[in-house]
Amino acid sequence: MATESGNTIEALLEEQRVFPSPEEFAKNAHVNADDIFAQAAADPEAFWASVAEELHWFKKWDQVLDESDPPFFKWFVGGKLNITHNCLDRHLTSWRRNKAAIIWEGEPGDQVVLTYYDLWREVSKFANALKGLGVKKGDRVTLYMGMVPELAIAMLACARIGAPHSIVFGGFSAEALADRINDAQGNVLVTCDGGWRRGGIVPLKQMADEAVERCPTIESVVVVKRIGDEASIEMQEGRDHWWHELMESAGLRCEPEEMDAEDMLYILYTSGTTGKPKGIVHTTGGYSTQTYLTTKWVFDMKDDDVYWCTADIGWVTGHSYIIYGPLQNGATTVMYEGAPDFPGRDRFWDIVEKYGITILYTAPTAIRAFMRWGDEYPAMHDMSSLRLLGSVGEPINPEAWIWYHTNIGGERCPIVDTWWQTETGAILITPLPGYTATKPGSATKTFPGISAAIFDEAGNVVPEGGGYLVLQRPWPSMLRTIYGDPERFKEQYWSRYPGVYFTGDGAKIDADGYFWVLGRVDDVMNVAGHRLSTMEIESALVDHQSVAEAAVIGKTHELKGQAVSAFVLLKEGIDPGDTLLDELKKHVAQKIGPIARPDDIFFTADLPKTRSGKIMRRLLRDVAEGRALGDTTTLLDANVVDNLRGQYEDSEG
Ligand code: WT7
Repeated sequence: MATESGNTIEALLEEQRVFPSPEEFAKNAHVNADDIFAQAAADPEAFWASVAEELHWFKKWDQVLDESDPPFFKWFVGGKLNITHNCLDRHLTSWRRNKAAIIWEGEPGDQVVLTYYDLWREVSKFANALKGLGVKKGDRVTLYMGMVPELAIAMLACARIGAPHSIVFGGFSAEALADRINDAQGNVLVTCDGGWRRGGIVPLKQMADEAVERCPTIESVVVVKRIGDEASIEMQEGRDHWWHELMESAGLRCEPEEMDAEDMLYILYTSGTTGKPKGIVHTTGGYSTQTYLTTKWVFDMKDDDVYWCTADIGWVTGHSYIIYGPLQNGATTVMYEGAPDFPGRDRFWDIVEKYGITILYTAPTAIRAFMRWGDEYPAMHDMSSLRLLGSVGEPINPEAWIWYHTNIGGERCPIVDTWWQTETGAILITPLPGYTATKPGSATKTFPGISAAIFDEAGNVVPEGGGYLVLQRPWPSMLRTIYGDPERFKEQYWSRYPGVYFTGDGAKIDADGYFWVLGRVDDVMNVAGHRLSTMEIESALVDHQSVAEAAVIGKTHELKGQAVSAFVLLKEGIDPGDTLLDELKKHVAQKIGPIARPDDIFFTADLPKTRSGKIMRRLLRDVAEGRALGDTTTLLDANVVDNLRGQYEDSEG
């Protein structure tokens, strides 16, 4: 089996160390015994129903799980709720009303603290502002913003009135934004005049303007003033509204819409195996239930915790584990606007010390960067407040895990390596920090009530060894469909093994039943924890006038896990050169966003293809990573790849 991740696999497979849950931690943890696993496995529906009971419902469900029309599963059928009631209103009748819900730190060092009461007020007001712009239940609203408190307020305001949000990461280009708006439709876009990033301004409003030119459905654009004059934006009369002006006249009361458990909560676009991003659809009841419980148990969330997830809300991690999970638990969640190395390489540790962070959830790519920057940066700060660490987004290599454990966790904090996907909505494979013994590099075992397995090509369960990671039973926070494309939903996830969810990941299971996720087995790359499709980048390259054909691979990279590496065939008569190379890199960044910009581009005269014309990216990866070639029997012309290897190695010289 060929996986997308490179040298970490060898390291993972040799890893032998085991770290039991620290006794002190286990003593007070929400979960510290195994009876819950057996109970949940015996009757998962009863288990999830008991969790849902902990939330507020306007009307209780009639049926926990409806499996009558697979793979279109329904959870908590007939139940009515609003996730913002569980995130906000519910806490207003307890002492928590004056507890900090969100602690926000801007990149320049400014701060905002919103208590639960404050947040409830802001959300209700913006919900009314949206209604004033004509937004109704079921209408999609696109949010293209930086990491400012208004982003949290806007998403909750959408949820309050039953308007699904579609959040587009602020690092995406105007074109990528326009594609997503046009797929989701909807009349309103919320953006900012700009965002701060490493002291510079991200021109969000300018990009939004460019995008909206191509989006006929957009009637109103709401603009948060984050930067001020320096952003030098133009407001379009009649279309554009300042956030603060709308808020001045917005009413304070907005009753939450009674949502059906299966009403859409949000759409979130993610890259798939084709060029077109997929709109992953999440609904209300199951998503609320599972994000609530996983936050409580995986992060052992308590009322006195100060929890910081460093992800951007533009990704699913931010949706589930900055906003919905923590707020349903009445937790204090920290949001940071900017870069980890601005103004200094100790910025994260400065924030940990400043706010007394107790739980930190970040990504392996960041950990590897910190590791390279050196131990002196965390050592500058008192981080004794930390009690639990989390990792998400890609496999964590054991060296990084140990560094995190030692230099950030002071050897006392358990580490939860959490496996999940945009599609799964919530964490599915993870240690429970007061119970599970961890092994560096392994996400360990399934969360209670979840069943995962490793399948071989034929669909047999592999009891020990490698294969494809699959999920055998529906789970509450699962995606319900791909927006506007139910066929693609069936084909993508449910066709490889009938009745079973195919994750797209390769993984191994060891003798103790621990899962070791190795990486994608499809044409999806994982670059610094961000998901990118090879084909999406290939289309962007071929879109350039000089390019005839392109093949893109994820090449093993020390910091990012994988880096975008492209093999490009130019059109007849076009001369390769450094100017063109830079132009092509820029072109990709402009079409998709800076995260998709190739690290290297190699000009070639030919690409290795199968007899049916499919580019063999797997062989290109072997070439790029200097490995012996894998199986070449399906190649049309074996010389192509030999020549390519010779040239590639010469160029690396
Ligand atoms: C893919 C999903 C889940 C939120 C962030 C990414 C990889 C994710 C882990 C982990 C090994 C991981 C998988 C997965 N992945 N977490 N702990 N160990 N791999 O969400 O963009 O939907 O990407 O990220 O390959 O399929 P996403």
